[in-house]
Amino acid sequence: MEDRVKLQLFDLSDKVAVVTGGNGGIGKGIAEGLASAGCSIVIAARSRDKSAAAAQEIEQAYGVRTLCVELDVKDPESIKRMPGQVLEAYGRLDILVNNAGVNVRKLPQDFSLEEWDHIQNTNLRSVFLCSQAVYPVMKCKGGKIINTGSLTSLIGSARTSPYAASKAGVLQLTRSLAVAWAPDNIQVNVILPGYIATPLTVQARKDFPGLDEHVLQRTPTGRWGTPEDFAGPAVFLASKASDFVTGEFVVVDGGYTQGECEHPYESVVMRGTMRRVESDEEKRHAIHVLVGHLEDEPGGYWSSRSWRLEQRLDRFSALCFEIESVTAKAGS
Ligand SMILES: NC(=O)c1ccc[n+]([C@@H]2O[C@H](COP(=O)([O-])OP(=O)(O)OC[C@H]3O[C@@H](n4cnc5c(N)ncnc54)[C@H](OP(=O)(O)O)[C@@H]3O)[C@@H](O)[C@H]2O)c1
Repeated sequence: MEDRVKLQLFDLSDKVAVVTGGNGGIGKGIAEGLASAGCSIVIAARSRDKSAAAAQEIEQAYGVRTLCVELDVKDPESIKRMPGQVLEAYGRLDILVNNAGVNVRKLPQDFSLEEWDHIQNTNLRSVFLCSQAVYPVMKCKGGKIINTGSLTSLIGSARTSPYAASKAGVLQLTRSLAVAWAPDNIQVNVILPGYIATPLTVQARKDFPGLDEHVLQRTPTGRWGTPEDFAGPAVFLASKASDFVTGEFVVVDGGYTQGECEHPYESVVMRGTMRRVESDEEKRHAIHVLVGHLEDEPGGYWSSRSWRLEQRLDRFSALCFEIESVTAKAGS
């Protein structure tokens, strides 16, 4: 098959996509992915400034048209206005990405009713209302709806019970919308992100010592996901390439849910001279050299971990190596 023909499957150049929460994090990664396939982008979020900055960046990088719509997904009236604003600007609306979401981390017994409602209304009710709002437009010509769930759509989570409940709801809502609207040629699918480095998870990494270690150890690919990791799956689900895929979930988690990963390296061998390091400055230097060596290792495996050594200066032994080389040996 010609490259050109193959690419046509993913071509979105005559399409218009609304991305809720498209001004940052995963939503922006998705918006950029769709724009790279030629799609016009509507960024629908609350912060005007953030949306304007993201829109400008996308326009400059991909040469597509963009529009910012002020949308609060908790507000049903704001949602009702959205399709009209898009139609007025573009005359069409082909793709809806329900991405806006929030999380609050606490044990179940500590949540207030207000927090429960805030999470459900932002993460779940909004998906229903936004999808309902675009349905009259999509039912004429077909369309694509891409929802954003989470690993907690599938597995429980002690500290995010309302969030997990909302995301499990998003999965079942996806399946229900998919079967209801299949006759209208509307495909509805859901992306389930794993641990992704975005503003949503910055605070969690600060508040829960060990979370970062857990993610890096447990994820077979050995890193946090990035917003860019969502570009490809989103283009697939927004394009003709997925016309016979509906009600399905796509897990984007670096293999986290596939099982425990084995350490890709059995051992790290350091060569050098043992000497006593007295001052913090010397320790810092020794660590800096070690980190430099680790970062040179193939696959980037160590680079994602090595920075943590720098944060553990106090625990770093006063006896340390003057390192000449570091060799990582692969496990069998
Ligand atoms: N990061 C992860 O590890 C992870 C894992 C699993 C699932 N997810 C899901 O992925 C989605 C995006 O998460 P993220 O990590 O990219 O979060 P993020 O960086 O915090 O971005 C959230 C986005 O949602 C928008 N938003 C929040 N409340 C809104 C509201 N009431 N109305 C309209 N827009 C609203 C925000 O823009 P404004 O503030 O301008 O409105 C922002 O653009 C969420 O559904 C989240 O649950 C994330």
